[in-house]
Amino acid sequence: MTKQELCQTALDMLSRSYSPYSRFPVGAALACADGSVYTGCNIENAAYGPSVCAERVAVFKAVSEGKREFVRIAVAASTKKFCAPCGVCRQVLQEFAPDLEVILVNCDGETKELTQRDLLPYSFDGDSLTDCSGDPAGLS
Ligand code: THU
Repeated sequence: MTKQELCQTALDMLSRSYSPYSRFPVGAALACADGSVYTGCNIENAAYGPSVCAERVAVFKAVSEGKREFVRIAVAASTKKFCAPCGVCRQVLQEFAPDLEVILVNCDGETKELTQRDLLPYSFDGDSLTDCSGDPAGLS
């Protein structure tokens, strides 16, 4: 799928958004290394807390289907302003795709190309955990 097609797929997902509380639909399309594409939209909840962003829906759908290598994600909003992934989504994307390309798409179909590295510099990841040795906090 071309970048343009991925962006259009993200825009198409705006209609699937369940966002009666924020009234802020978001659509996502995640391109895997094997050429497959997983889509997502934000899904809100009356209790607010259980709501989930479009990007995480796409990532979790893909991972649950056995995909873990991702090339790029397109994130579409129905606003003129580009919608960048929230902090939680950046952390989830970091887990699987530190080299991810991120394309933001606005309501006019205009795009802004970024990278996961732009969005989450100096990140915390699995390597951060393996560097822990002994009892640095003096807990024992
Ligand atoms: N939202 C996303 O789906 N992705 C983002 O990158 C930012 C925010 C959703 C969460 C919530 O349903 C609505 O947009 C307003 O915050």
